[in-house]
Amino acid sequence: KIVKNPKIAVIPGDGIGKEVIPEGLRALEAVNSQFNIGMQFDHFDFASCDYYLKHGKMMPDDWFETLMQYDAIFFGAVGMPSVLPDHISLWGSLIQFRRCFDQYVNLRPVRLLPGVPCPLANRKPGDIDFFVVRENTEGEYSSLGGKMFPDTDREFVVQESVFTRHGVDRILQYAYDLAQSRPKKHLTSATKSNGIAITMPYWDERVEEMAKRYADVRTDKYHIDILAAHFVMNPDRFDVVVASNLFGDILSDLGPACTGTIAVAPSGSINPEGKFPSLFEPVHGSAPDIYGQMIANPIGQIWSASMMLDHLGYPEAGKTIFKAIESVLAEGPANSPLTPDLGGKGKTDDLGKAIAAAI
Ligand code: NAI
Ligand code: MG
Repeated sequence: KIVKNPKIAVIPGDGIGKEVIPEGLRALEAVNSQFNIGMQFDHFDFASCDYYLKHGKMMPDDWFETLMQYDAIFFGAVGMPSVLPDHISLWGSLIQFRRCFDQYVNLRPVRLLPGVPCPLANRKPGDIDFFVVRENTEGEYSSLGGKMFPDTDREFVVQESVFTRHGVDRILQYAYDLAQSRPKKHLTSATKSNGIAITMPYWDERVEEMAKRYADVRTDKYHIDILAAHFVMNPDRFDVVVASNLFGDILSDLGPACTGTIAVAPSGSINPEGKFPSLFEPVHGSAPDIYGQMIANPIGQIWSASMMLDHLGYPEAGKTIFKAIESVLAEGPANSPLTPDLGGKGKTDDLGKAIAAAI
């Protein structure tokens, strides 16, 4: 499905979000003209601690109606703990987007890039190339439960997991569609049906049911504990990994960590039907420790732009951005202006310009 003349809401947020967003836009502008996409950008200063200091809240009251007019949100990072506690800044912005826009897919590519030091021994680019698909709205992260008899020796707490057929099937369908679109056509399901004896056998049952509709996709499943071990020992085994909210949360940090620095990792919080805008952002946060020096690596933001184009129906443009990132990285710090985290001396905008030029 192709979104014609996509309207993009640009929200830099805080800290290095303000430094890397312009580089993401530089890449987007380059493909916008090259592929005649007709993307339009509007910039917003809310969902930031600066906005909070001025207005006493993270976002204007009509943020939902405002952002509903856009096809996607291109987001930097939010949070400045020295100014405002994270539970106020993140819950007042990003978490509201994820919930109110029913962004039930959290998608993170796990790919080893040239020139990025890999913490796993003897792995080269091409060896690691898969996606983690995390369910983002239900599962283990529910608010059902409570505490009784506090401060007595009868004290107990209960928190229930929620797995609905609707919620499980839609994340599985997204993951199977993704697997079917890839050359390996291989889906791995994260389970724990040997220990969590009600919800996880249900998850497995829905996987089996969904698998029947995707006869050309090879399906396997691993218990979450050994699956985590395989991420480290045999990352070449995976193509698309689908997981519940809790398991996916862990795997979606472990995966990118296995391929090097979080500074290059992108993510999408996606509402696949396009009923609500989806959000694309780097995995990293606002990095207050390096903010203001223009040494932040913009690749996570630029790769997020590539994912956004895939989502909007422009995979060729998305691929062009990704190839440009790869080619600039492959030249190494001696020949391209890589940022200090990659062993170079380049500034944020130097690297952004080199990637835009490669596009
Ligand atoms: P962080 O990701 O901002 O930084 C962790 C470390 O990685 C820091 O040493 C930082 O300098 C480095 N780093 C991060 N991105 C980099 C880049 N592009 N180039 C070079 N180095 C980079 O995580 P931290 O410090 O735990 O959180 C800082 C703030 O960001 C907090 O307020 C946190 O809540 C927020 N945060 C927001 C996220 C979001 O908007 N989705 C995600 C993660 C954290
Ligand atoms: Mg996490």
